[in-house]
Amino acid sequence: MIKRLTLGAPAIARTAQPGQFVHVRVGESYHPLLRRPLSIAEVDREVGNITVIYRVVGKGTALLASLPPGEFVDCMGPLGNGFDMNTERPLLVGGGMGLAPLLFLAKALCPKPVTALMGGRTKEELWWRNVFLGTCRSIHVTTDDGSMGRRGFTIDLLPELLENCKYDRIYACGPLRMMEGVARLARDKGIPCQISFEDHMACGVGACLSCTCAGTDGKRRKVCSDGPVFWAEEVLEL
Ligand SMILES: Cc1cc2nc3c(=O)[nH]c(=O)nc-3n(C[C@H](O)[C@H](O)[C@H](O)COP(=O)(O)OP(=O)(O)OC[C@H]3O[C@@H](n4cnc5c(N)ncnc54)[C@H](O)[C@@H]3O)c2cc1C
Ligand code: FES
Repeated sequence: MIKRLTLGAPAIARTAQPGQFVHVRVGESYHPLLRRPLSIAEVDREVGNITVIYRVVGKGTALLASLPPGEFVDCMGPLGNGFDMNTERPLLVGGGMGLAPLLFLAKALCPKPVTALMGGRTKEELWWRNVFLGTCRSIHVTTDDGSMGRRGFTIDLLPELLENCKYDRIYACGPLRMMEGVARLARDKGIPCQISFEDHMACGVGACLSCTCAGTDGKRRKVCSDGPVFWAEEVLEL
């Protein structure tokens, strides 16, 4: 089940950058104790709203989904580092809920010509296409079963896109294997690539070290405060 939650959060809406996330306390009891990280998918700076789009996978997201409209939600943010926006011709590649932060990015990059490549298992998973319509210059779709767009994975279609257009930045968010594939192709073409991790987190602010990942320089990175957005070569062995 996918849910879209809009929160009145003027201070967060004022400063949030694409790629940043909020850390949401999902209930009043001790279980679950930890907040849940969710990407900021949309921002309305004038009204002071932010929107998150999330999949209900466990107790935390189920509790969040059960809240009635108008409920108060304890929400920390914006947290983490966002995407580098220095681009004239961006390509966004997303799979599954990884498309949530890319939606904010696509809107923030307008009116630059944004191309989106999105993948899902079936066409039902690609309702995202309608959400991105109107924001992107072009949208390409792959499904594992061929029920929408090209049959296969995003990285099967990507070489063709890179052959035909000169992108100057690639941004990817989704399953790790997808991001590795995207980053390899980007490296081969000499295009700078940023990826965003969606790992498990505890504190969300760099204090507990529960979210660390290995950097390619041998030093560890905290996904919550050094990321969740990284240059691909900083954290992926390509
Ligand atoms: C920076 C960041 C941004 C995120 N943005 C979004 C978003 O915009 N939309 C969205 O739907 N989700 C997003 N996530 C993932 C989201 O935080 C988890 O789905 C959520 O915490 C699950 O909480 P839960 O209590 O419902 O599930 P739990 O009960 O904690 O877990 C249920 C199942 O999901 C698995 N799981 C939990 N968290 C993750 C994870 N991060 N990656 C893979 N598997 C996991 C568990 O291993 C378990 O199998 C993001 C994560 C991060 C770190
Ligand atoms: S979640 Fe605690 S350091 Fe990242």
